[in-house]
Amino acid sequence: MNATRPAARPPPEPDPAQEEATAAASAHRARVLVVDDDERNLLAIRTVIEDLTDVETATSGEEALRHLLKGEFAVILLDVYMPGMDGYETAEIIRGREQTKRIPIVFLSAVNKEKEHLLRGYSMGAVDYVFKPVEPVVLRSKVAVFVDLYTMTREIRRKAEQEQRLLDDNLRANAERLRVEQELRRAEQRQAAIIRSLPIILYLEPEDASPRVPQFVGGNFSAVTGFPFDAVRDNPALWAERLHPDDRERALEALEERRRSGVMAIEYRWQCADGQYKHFLDQAVLLQESDDGPAQFAGTLLDVSDRRELEGQLLQARKMDAIGKLTGGIAHDFNNLLAAVLGGIGLIERRLPLGEEHKKIVAMTRRAAEQGSELIGRLLAFARRQQLQPAGIEAAALAATVTDLLAHTLGGLVRLEWHSQDGVGRAYADSTQLELGLMNLIINARDAMPRGGTITVTARNESAAAGNRLGLPDGDYVVFAVADTGSGIAPEILEQVTEPFFTTKEVGEGTGLGLSMVYGFAQQSGGAIDIRSTLGEGTLVEIWLPRAPEEEMPAEADPETAETPPAETAVLRILLVDDHDGVREATAAMLGDLGHDVEAAGDGPSMLERLAANPTGFDLIVTDYAMPLMSGIDMLKRAREISPDTPGLVISGYPNSRSIGTGPDEVAVLAKPFTMTQLEAAIGSALRGPIPHRGPRIGEPPS
Ligand SMILES: Nc1ncnc2c1ncn2[C@@H]1O[C@H](COP(=O)(O)OP(=O)(O)OP(=O)(O)O)[C@@H](O)[C@H]1O
Ligand SMILES: [Mg+2]
Repeated sequence: MNATRPAARPPPEPDPAQEEATAAASAHRARVLVVDDDERNLLAIRTVIEDLTDVETATSGEEALRHLLKGEFAVILLDVYMPGMDGYETAEIIRGREQTKRIPIVFLSAVNKEKEHLLRGYSMGAVDYVFKPVEPVVLRSKVAVFVDLYTMTREIRRKAEQEQRLLDDNLRANAERLRVEQELRRAEQRQAAIIRSLPIILYLEPEDASPRVPQFVGGNFSAVTGFPFDAVRDNPALWAERLHPDDRERALEALEERRRSGVMAIEYRWQCADGQYKHFLDQAVLLQESDDGPAQFAGTLLDVSDRRELEGQLLQARKMDAIGKLTGGIAHDFNNLLAAVLGGIGLIERRLPLGEEHKKIVAMTRRAAEQGSELIGRLLAFARRQQLQPAGIEAAALAATVTDLLAHTLGGLVRLEWHSQDGVGRAYADSTQLELGLMNLIINARDAMPRGGTITVTARNESAAAGNRLGLPDGDYVVFAVADTGSGIAPEILEQVTEPFFTTKEVGEGTGLGLSMVYGFAQQSGGAIDIRSTLGEGTLVEIWLPRAPEEEMPAEADPETAETPPAETAVLRILLVDDHDGVREATAAMLGDLGHDVEAAGDGPSMLERLAANPTGFDLIVTDYAMPLMSGIDMLKRAREISPDTPGLVISGYPNSRSIGTGPDEVAVLAKPFTMTQLEAAIGSALRGPIPHRGPRIGEPPS
């Protein structure tokens, strides 16, 4: 028979819930404990109820109790009369134990049908009685009731537990969701707070918006721009309107280009609500169309003003430094030339019998050379190469001197007022230079007020940290401030006014060296200047100088001005070294005019040769400081090895070279340009021995 097998029906899909229920039911099938000392009774009862329930049997109360330790029962069928522990006693113990006290007990009783016995049984916790001989139908139905009850109770409990579990799971899930949500919100708040505290705005902008208007901004828009975001919504042209005129075209072009390329990175100045321009770095990329919406630009607007300002300051500082070096070098060379010119003029005046006419010409030439020398002095001051003699300066004395010096200069329209803070300290600086500096500032103030006004000069103490803004180290300062109510300085030239030769004055009216001199002098003195100005309102220029210590600090002696007895009248044999022909010849002539015998050399090595040839042949070596082959100081050191007793005098165009150490001693130094009298005095001090180092010095060592 070739019957095709019917297509095998797939086995029914097991229902997991039902399976679980059946498993649970069989695992926990109700059990009944039957206790009787008569095995036959046990067997009979088992037979009657076996198909309803699992049956456990015990032949004594003790055995029954042991069974009860091992599990639950739907009902206990308990024989009343048993040897040893009888049914009542057993029931009492069962009722007394927490785990078993709720198990229903049905007494099996053969005889005692009397009421009193029944009551005892009930009081011992029986729920029913079955009398022997047992009627199977009655027993079955009673047991069935208890088994049902048990099963239902179990079921209800199981369901309740399941529901509780579900409820717990639900609660746990809810709590977890809440926690995650809170965490997310906190993270968002944190991010928002960070972005708000940064000088940055995040934005989303529709790709085709024209004019550009962001749809969404993140970050503190109003803190960065000063405008509420609504202002941009209300006036879409705001962004373009407030671009700096010099940056507008470039920024608008970049925006156009952004449409084509999908990216943009541009920096521009933008006028914030307070009228100030900020430097913004604006960067954006195109996010392509997506499910979330149409294509849009995502971008950031970063305030980089601080960075730009710092860069600007750094650049300016470097520029000033470079100009300083350049100026210093040129001034030094000119100083040399002027030394020769002035020396030559001196010689002409001394050696040639001049008529009145010629005397006038020579005097005019000398004045011009001296003016040049003054100019050079200001350049050297800017280049921080001025010779400074710092000392403690009283504000009151300074006020008197400067007022006196300016008496005929200020003119009738301008009033000069001095205000010194009570207890203002003494500034530690070169008083002549400070007087010059203040005069420069006051004259600038006067020039800024052509229709007159009041110039106020104040002196006050400032402490440590206040000066940090100016890049000054911690310390005590005295500040001299000159304020006017004049034309003010335009912000765009504010940085330039301290540059040498920067002037807005007519040709011939200003050299542009006034503020440069003050700037260099303040720096060389360990201070700074601070200029603040508002166009049309006035200018405030402050000179910050270190405060002098309380006790009196003597001024450094200056060989040029120090009182020196005239040099010995004796004829000296002088060995002169200078690489500059003009200066050498002029100096040699001056020395000759002072009555000395001079032997001149153009560089150190050849001079040393001459000294070696005749170590005791000279009373003094006079040398230039800066020479290409060997510096004057190095040369003097070598000379001392050959002829230890021959004194030296250094002539230098560099400031502070009088503090040049030569090893064990210091050497007399004469600054260029010098007069005949100064030369004579310097020779005198050189012959008297080395000049000891006195008092503190400021300024740079010579280069
Ligand atoms: N108090 C002020 N008010 C307005 N502008 C000022 C003031 N002080 C200086 N300036 C500006 O700074 C420029 C430079 O000043 P600075 O003193 O260096 O040179 P100057 O006064 O022009 O010439 P000089 O001082 O060499 O005769 C001035 O030309 C002027 O434009
Ligand atoms: Mg000036």
